[in-house]
Order: sequence, then structure tokens, then C-alpha cells
Amino acid sequence: MAKLWSGRFEKEASRLLDEFNASLPFDKELFREDIEGSIAHAKMLAKQGILSNQERDSIIEGLKRIEKEIESGDFTWDISDEDIHMAIEKRLTQLIGDAGKKLHTARSRNDQVATDFRLYVQKQNQEFMGQLKNLIAIFVDIAKEHKETLLPGMTHLQHAQPISFAYHMLAYASMFKRDYERFRSSYERNNVSPLGCAALAGTPHNIDREFTAKELGFYAPTINCLDTVSDRDFALEILFNIATMMMHISRLAEELILWSSYEFKFITISDEYATGSSIMPQKKNPDVPELLRAKTGRAYGNLMSLLTVMKGLPLAYNKDMQEDKEGVFDSVKHAKLSLAILQKVLKTMHINRDKMAEAAKVGHLSATDLADYLVEKVGIPFREAHFITGKAVALAEKLGKDISELSFEELKTIDSRIKPDVVHYLDLQNSMNARNSFGGTSTNQVQQQIEYFEKFLRKAP
Ligand code: ARG
Repeated sequence: MAKLWSGRFEKEASRLLDEFNASLPFDKELFREDIEGSIAHAKMLAKQGILSNQERDSIIEGLKRIEKEIESGDFTWDISDEDIHMAIEKRLTQLIGDAGKKLHTARSRNDQVATDFRLYVQKQNQEFMGQLKNLIAIFVDIAKEHKETLLPGMTHLQHAQPISFAYHMLAYASMFKRDYERFRSSYERNNVSPLGCAALAGTPHNIDREFTAKELGFYAPTINCLDTVSDRDFALEILFNIATMMMHISRLAEELILWSSYEFKFITISDEYATGSSIMPQKKNPDVPELLRAKTGRAYGNLMSLLTVMKGLPLAYNKDMQEDKEGVFDSVKHAKLSLAILQKVLKTMHINRDKMAEAAKVGHLSATDLADYLVEKVGIPFREAHFITGKAVALAEKLGKDISELSFEELKTIDSRIKPDVVHYLDLQNSMNARNSFGGTSTNQVQQQIEYFEKFLRKAP
């Protein structure tokens, strides 16, 4: 069958052209959005008197039938149709005849693809928002159980100060809440309708863009059609939001990998989500977090690729922009899978409190507390207190102890101004709870943070 645009052509398109030029093999993923957009367009054309009600009804019926054909696998895909828009339009005309040929009045594939793709991205933005809320809820649940669970807080991957495991989990809740907010603000900013922009400059037909915008769940039509048909910021935004979220996931994944090693043993990944080795029978490998860490790479790649496609494009639509879709589909697919399995891993992992507490006893985590004690209780300048504390650390090392395990008698030998109450300050749990400044790790602060996230989860759409 001749191409829908073949009027001015004498020779048929080559097969190689079809293969190179077609987006159908991947943009068929947008068939639901394409049909949704076409139904809204047909309703608007009829409302404006451009189509009869009868024509509208047969178009809508035909489109619904096509949707079923595609869903059930009965639809015949033909690469020479080029893209999902023409494949559906051609089939519509086969099914309903001349009325099908009127559907493209006051529309171009340029506003059509911009509409379809935006509808798809908006659906995904909402799904990510939902999944991120579920993920945050898991961190909050774990935090509730582990307000007292001591963990060595680290900087430079070296033991630094005692924190609670709850506090550590809520750091991730904070990260993923920012991700949620990014998806949400992208949704809000981009929820405007390209439909009716036609090729680039609008249309002489008396259309109602406000109507189609509302039909499709957009807040309003876009303001400038020349920009609209060449705007892919919404796609770039979801790619960036996914890339950033995956970066966060990769950091957590890295910690899960470390924590499940023999050196840490802070967590045990459930058998359901761990893998074995084909040669070493004893092994249990953290393949899932490793893949989570790795998938960040493709998310970055997809973002860079579309940024590069868009760079330097003159207004308005250029065929370059057909390369916008596959990267987004890829990022969306892998990010969704990642979020789903990450939630399972977190929900089913065993948290070894004892190992964490044991690890907190290594590395003199409460050394800063001795310095603070000397400043606050004894009135020694901080620099001097720092020096005396260094001596205490050296003594502890000599005795094969952690600074939190030194007795008053032992500490007294370092500086006679030290009083018996020092022991209280060096205790790890007390050290953690001493960090009661806003946003700190004390159980009191952590409780406030839990309540903050619970409120967020109750209110966020
Ligand atoms: N398949 C095209 C794409 O994905 C649809 C828009 C084509 N428009 C055009 N004027 N060739 O971008």
C-alpha cells in the first residue's frame, strides 16, 4: 500500500529507507497514548463542527477496535507504515473508510508525537512518585525498629561517630524524597498539551485546544506551538530524574554490598534475592545490589544521549527527535525494575544489630565526646582538649581497648582534671544521644524525623 505521504513521490521508498527511517519497531509502545490522543482530537473536531457526530463515533469505535487488536496481538505491523501514528491511521481507514481520512484534520504528526510521548512520560512520572513513596515507607518502617541500633557512622569509609541504623536509613528516605519531589515538579511543569499545534505554526481550522487539553488530563494547552513541537525537555527531565534516583540507588546498593560481606556482616540478604556461584559452592553473592549499582550507567547514558541529540537543533521539529524515545523507554523500564526489586531486598534482608553494635566498639567513635567533655565540663580550650583526647586514644590502643571501654581510673592518668562522670560521656549510646541538635542522630531527633516522613507519606499525592 502506498505511503500516506506519497502524493508528491514517483518512486516507491526503498526497503532500506523503511528500516532506517521507521520508528514503528519501538514507538508502538505508545499505541495507547496515540489512541487516547486521537479520540480527544476527534471529539474536539466534532464539537467544532469539523466532523459530523457520526464520523466522530465511527472514528472512536474504529480506534477502540484497533486498541483491542494491538492488545490481543492481532494487529499486523508493517514497517513501511513508518510509525505508530501512521500505522493506526492506515488501519482506521481500512476499518471505517473515508471518515478515517478526516481524523488528521488540524493535526500533524509533530504535535501528535509530542502529545503521545508527553502523555506517556506523565504516566511514568506518577508511577515513579508512587514507587518512591513505597520505598520511603520501607525506610521509615526499618527506622522505627532501629532507633537504638548502634552503627559506626563513617566519613572516608572510616569509623567516625556512633549513629543509629535508623538515622542511616532516614538519610536514604531524605534522598528519595527529593527524587519524589523532582518527579512531581516535572509532572507539574510539563502537564500542558501540545495537541492542536499541528506542524509548527498552529492551524487555520477553528479548533479548541483547551478542550483537548482537559480531555487528556493536561492543565492547559501550551502557549507557543513552535516551541512545543520541538520541546523534549519533559523527556530530558524524566531521564535526569531517573539518573539521579539511580545514582542514589547505587549508593545504597554499594552499602548493601559492603554490609553483606564477611568483613561487615551488618546485613544478610535473603536467599530469595541472592545468588550462588557456579564453581564455589559456599558462595552467596549480592548480584541484585551489584546490578542496581550498574544500571545507573545506562540511565546516565540515556540522559547524555538525548541531551546530545537535542543540542544545536534548529526550530522546530527535526527527524533527529525521533531518537528521543528508546532511551526513555529503557531508563523507565530498568528504573522500575530496580525500584521493585530494591524494595523486596530491603523488606526481606536480615539486619544484624549485634554486628553493627560490635563494629561501633572499634575505632574510638566517642573520642570527640571526650574532647567535648573537656571543653564543656572542665573548661579546657578545644585545641588542648583535642590533644589530651589523642593521648587517651593512644592509651586505649596500648591497652587493646576502645576509648569507650576505658575506666575512670585509666582516664585519670591522662589528665587529673577528668572526673568520674566522664565514663557516661564516653558510652557509645550516650554519645549518639548527645547529638541532639536539629537533624542529628539522637533517638529524640530520629523520632522527629520519622514523624516528618510519616506526615509526608500521608499528605503527598
Ligand atoms: N515518528 C516520528 C517521531 O517519532 C513522528 C513525527 C514525524 N514527523 C515528521 N514530520 N516526520 O518523531
